[in-house]
Amino acid sequence: MAKKNKNDTMEKIVSLCKRRGYVYPSSELYGGLTSCWDYGPLGSELKRNIKTFWWDAMTNRRDDIEGLDAAILMHPEVWKVSGHVDEFVDPMIDCKTCKARFRADKLEECRCGNKPSKTPLECGGELTEARNFNLMFKTFMGPIEDSSATIYMRPETAQGIYVNFLNVKNSSRQKIPFGIAQIGKAFRNEITPGNFIFRTREFEQMEMQYFVHPDEDEKWFEYWREQRWAWYESLGINMSKLRWHEHKDDELAHYAKAAYDIEYEYPFGWQELEGVHNRTDFDLGRHMEATGKDLRYFDERFTEKFLPYIVETSAGCDRTILTCLVDAYDEVEVKGDMRVFLRLSPKIAPIKAAVFPLVKKDGMPEAAKKICAELKKKFKVFYDEAGAVGRRYARQDEAGTPFCLTVDGQTLEDETMTLRDRDTMEQTRMRVEDVIKFLDEKVNG
Ligand code: GAP
Repeated sequence: MAKKNKNDTMEKIVSLCKRRGYVYPSSELYGGLTSCWDYGPLGSELKRNIKTFWWDAMTNRRDDIEGLDAAILMHPEVWKVSGHVDEFVDPMIDCKTCKARFRADKLEECRCGNKPSKTPLECGGELTEARNFNLMFKTFMGPIEDSSATIYMRPETAQGIYVNFLNVKNSSRQKIPFGIAQIGKAFRNEITPGNFIFRTREFEQMEMQYFVHPDEDEKWFEYWREQRWAWYESLGINMSKLRWHEHKDDELAHYAKAAYDIEYEYPFGWQELEGVHNRTDFDLGRHMEATGKDLRYFDERFTEKFLPYIVETSAGCDRTILTCLVDAYDEVEVKGDMRVFLRLSPKIAPIKAAVFPLVKKDGMPEAAKKICAELKKKFKVFYDEAGAVGRRYARQDEAGTPFCLTVDGQTLEDETMTLRDRDTMEQTRMRVEDVIKFLDEKVNG
């Protein structure tokens, strides 16, 4: 029974996302494309707000981190040198009975191709031995499609930062310790994608690489664990649904000396949301060896040149979106009806306020449109005059809008309107200048 409820929650969220324009199946007209999703009007706004929230925290509010936007397509040697061509693999198993392919280390999460209610461990199908499957997407660059033209779609944004370490250091004149941050698409040919936008083959990462003296790697590793934990708190996530997971030796990626994941308790269980990794000098060392370029660092504070160690924070943008949606989803019984509330923080909510005239007459629509135009100079707001006010509130509650402003007869006399809070349901009368101050505090405070 408990399991059914959990699945129900995901189904409800997927359906809400489609209904309200957060996320649609990709290429739906053609029957969709497995594990590919498109962000709709509200979804693209939410995604942009989350990226801005991350970018502000990681770059604009600090002096020691620079931004970067590197190309997705990189020199193919990068991926040989980084170890991805040889080691970026997952163990794969084939089922001879249903012909499906599964990740050998996640069999308990997979579903049998013939009997979807069973896992491949339960269905009795004949499984092959596990073999390694490389997750990188390949394509060809230029008009000749042969092996010399093979390039890869980047499986992480991090390498774009490492190969630009010297460029950024020289042009920004940053001194160690300093970081480089980047948001961008990454691609992995996952054997078993799924759980909506949780595991997809095309996704976005928000990554930051912090370059430190080798003697200080553990100190900065702890510092960045604290910073990233605090970031989710400021995003308004229910912190009792987050926990740390330390990678043991058999889980560590080929580049990492230490790694901790921040996990969230999704309806389908505890899963990784972000990784914080101590990548040592592995990546810079490999690129220095392969290119012959000196990537070591020196300034007057040190007695000798050294290759910086790297502390990486790597968050999935789509996973953060899913986390925010799951965390915000709430159902409340109102007068016998089950109503949905999407309690997104005002900082990231796609629409910050909706403006309604109480009725479609007596000058109220004109007054409401004027207020709407004033608010639009600073915030994403939405005007709605269709249907009963209660229905309009309900639509905005479901869409995640934190505040609704209603213009009524009194507005025409004293220029005040009611501001209704989605979460407390409290209504307060305010003038437009106070509404602007109030929203500014809630959205940017
Ligand atoms: N540069 C290090 C790195 O890429 P990772 O743990 O493989 O580390 C970092 O990935 C984050 O990227 C994950 O914590 C997750 O949020 C996101 N991510 C990884 N694979 C993903 C996928 N297939 N779909 C969606 N997000 C993914």
